[in-house]
Amino acid sequence: MAASRLAHRALRQEIIATARRMNALGINQGKSGNLSQRIPEGFLVTPTAMTYDKLKPADIVVMGFDGSHRGTRLPSSEWRFHRDILVARPETNAVIHTHAMFATTLACLGREIPAFHYMVAVGGGDSIRCAPYATFGTEALSRHAVAALEGRKACLLANHGMIAVGATLVAALALAVEVETLAAMYWRALQVGEPNLLDAPEMARVLEKFRTYGQQAPARRSSVSAPTPAQAAPDPRGARRRARASSGRVPRR
Ligand code: 13P
Repeated sequence: MAASRLAHRALRQEIIATARRMNALGINQGKSGNLSQRIPEGFLVTPTAMTYDKLKPADIVVMGFDGSHRGTRLPSSEWRFHRDILVARPETNAVIHTHAMFATTLACLGREIPAFHYMVAVGGGDSIRCAPYATFGTEALSRHAVAALEGRKACLLANHGMIAVGATLVAALALAVEVETLAAMYWRALQVGEPNLLDAPEMARVLEKFRTYGQQAPARRSSVSAPTPAQAAPDPRGARRRARASSGRVPRR
C-alpha cells in the first residue's frame, strides 16, 4: 500500500537505471558517483554509499533546495553541488557525477580537455574545464564545480572525476559518455605527442553548427528546405523509386 504511494516512482526508477547503466557502460565503478533529477519541490538524489545494483525506488532521497531531505536514506555526500548546479542552471534538470577512468586521469593531472577535437564542443564551449580540487562534499567543491560549468554542460573535477548535466538524465548520461570518450582520445594522443588544437574561430563555427546539427522538428525542416520535385511527386511508388535511385540504396525485397 505504502509502496504504491511513493512519490516520483518513475523518476526514482530512472535514476536507478541510469546509475546502473553508467557502471555497465564503464564510465563509473562501484559506489562512486551520484545522480540527481529536478522535481517540482526540489530534487531527487542517489543515497550516499549504496551499491547501485541493490537500490530500490524508496532509497532515492527527496531534497529541498534548502538542503532538507526526506526518506529513509542519507543523501549523496555531494548533494551540495547537485543542488547548487540545479539552482544556478534552470535549463538543467539532471546532473551526473562519475569517476570515469580517462576523465579522472586527466583531472588528476589537473588538465582540462582543450579543443584537440571538434567534438569538445558537445560540452558547450571550446574546452572542457577542470575545476580546482576541494574535499568531496564541501561547499568549496560545489563553488568550483558551478564556476567550471559556467556556460558549459560538463567539467572535470581535479583529483576526483567529472560532472555532466542535461535537460534529462538520458542527455546527461550521453554527454558523460562523450566526455569520457574525448578524455580517452586526448589521453591517447598525449602518449604520442602534443595534439594540434583547433583555434577559437573554428570552435566558434563548430558551436554554431551544433545549434542546428541533427534531425530537426518537421516545421523547422520544411522552412529550411523546400521539397525537391521527386519529394513532391504525386505518385508515391514513383517517388520512392526516384528517392532510392538518388540515395544509391538497394531496395528491400
Ligand atoms: P556518495 O556515495 O556520497 O554519493 O559519494 C560518492 C562520490 O563519488 C563522492 O564524490
